[in-house]
Amino acid sequence: MKEIINVEVKSHKVDLSNCKTDLLAIGLFADTKGLDKPTQELNSKLKGAIDQLIKLGDFKGKDGTSALIYGNEQIGAKRVLLVGLGEKQKATLDTVRKAAANTTNKAVEMKIKTVSLALHRAFGGRFDLTVMGRAMTEGVYFGSYRYDEFVTESKNERLDTLSVELIDTDSTKTRKLNQGLSNGATIGKTQSYARTLANRPGNVINPATLAAEASKLARGLKGLSCTVFDEKQLTAKGMGGVLAVGSGSKNPPRFIILKYQAGSKAARKLPVIGLVGKAITFDSGGISIKRAANMDQMKLDKSGGIAVLGTMKAAAELKLPINVYGIIPAAENMPSGTSYRPGDIITTFSGKTVEVLDTDAEGRMVLCDGLAYAVKQKCDIIIDIGTLTGACKVALGKHMAGLMGNDEKLIKQIQGAAQDSGEKVWHMPSGEEYLAEMKSNIADLRNLAYVTKYGDACGGAAFLGQFVGDAKWAHLDIAGVDIFEKATKFMSEGSSGFGVRLLTTFLMNLTGKKG
Ligand code: BES
Ligand code: ZN
Ligand code: ZN
Repeated sequence: MKEIINVEVKSHKVDLSNCKTDLLAIGLFADTKGLDKPTQELNSKLKGAIDQLIKLGDFKGKDGTSALIYGNEQIGAKRVLLVGLGEKQKATLDTVRKAAANTTNKAVEMKIKTVSLALHRAFGGRFDLTVMGRAMTEGVYFGSYRYDEFVTESKNERLDTLSVELIDTDSTKTRKLNQGLSNGATIGKTQSYARTLANRPGNVINPATLAAEASKLARGLKGLSCTVFDEKQLTAKGMGGVLAVGSGSKNPPRFIILKYQAGSKAARKLPVIGLVGKAITFDSGGISIKRAANMDQMKLDKSGGIAVLGTMKAAAELKLPINVYGIIPAAENMPSGTSYRPGDIITTFSGKTVEVLDTDAEGRMVLCDGLAYAVKQKCDIIIDIGTLTGACKVALGKHMAGLMGNDEKLIKQIQGAAQDSGEKVWHMPSGEEYLAEMKSNIADLRNLAYVTKYGDACGGAAFLGQFVGDAKWAHLDIAGVDIFEKATKFMSEGSSGFGVRLLTTFLMNLTGKKG
């Protein structure tokens, strides 16, 4: 897929004041007094402009803020952007990732061609430079991303290319930054790829076109293969959940299986991973139809499946020494004379029966077949991800995904990956009390909790936990974090691509690869 904005990232050893660039970005903490030597030198060449901004209180180093200074031919750079990093004590790796995103977001807005980032310098030795190079590069891609592939009337609002360099005055440091840069670029580009796929509306992406995209991806990448079950194969295999959800649409469902085989000895010592992603290419609710307001956002109901697709792409490109299945049940949830109905009893792929009480609780209906398939493939660890419940959005808002599961160690590993990747999670319950509400009197399970709808994020997870056999399992509910309705300082509106960084980092951490 052609990138919407072609972003190139390199590293470069150069003095701050000699750096020839359209925009030189420097990070400053809110509570650090004074400037380091190279910044001091820059400040004197700029006749004290940086000092002035700080002294006058126009720039306080607060998180998410920035201030622009013009180079005026006194230095190599045309502009200097001071980027606020907040309080030093509170800084994490995500601070530098966000600072990079903030910078490139502005650069695109300002139609700037070249950007030089010296953001890492303020952190001193706090984080490994390779890890920082990766985080900054991920941020570069995240902040510069735009989705406008269907805008045909050129409004000349942006350039098609952006050239970025990570700079330092010390070549041993640029070398370390450069090591992380390459992985960061792979992950960053993959996240942009995922955002574009997720942003494409339901008339462009349906289960079959999504499956075609997955096959195309696998053809181009070593170690990656793709199998797609069409509606006939779904029927033959008894994938009742996926079939039921897809039954109301003219666009038939698909079951997409991506398999990444590392082909290395090291991979055989690691657990086999199954990633299962919900891909509802449009969720109207079906017969239990949704209200009209914001229904358009349900084109993003495929975000979990796309996070899995993206992670498989990244795993193959990074040649990670671990074997992974990417399982993507894809369907369109539509109301029609052929739709599944409230009251229907569905026999799922696992053999378990489910009483449908609400056709809008369709995510669990497709994921249960995906999970059972992962069990059949003997995956040791299974992680499912999807925009499952409005309840999760109500509970956690737009900052964190809900995380449930049946294994403490796995939960901790995912929490660790969240910290490293900046895609945050919050552990929520899904135990017995919640499962009890998901039992039916006329089938094995019901797809909507008995008595109330309250706590549906937990009820949904408890339901899914019934399909994982003996595997270690975690569930990520990304409803809420999948989309930004409004642009922020760090990103444009639309899909966030949530999950690509988190899951790729999870896999990388398992293989011991950090930067
Ligand atoms: N795709 C929705 C959940 C959702 C809501 C995602 C808001 C993103 C933003 C899901 O399929 C759904 O409709 N869930 C129902 C479940 C209910 C019927 C038990 C919901 O949350 O209302
Ligand atoms: Zn729904
Ligand atoms: Zn849905």
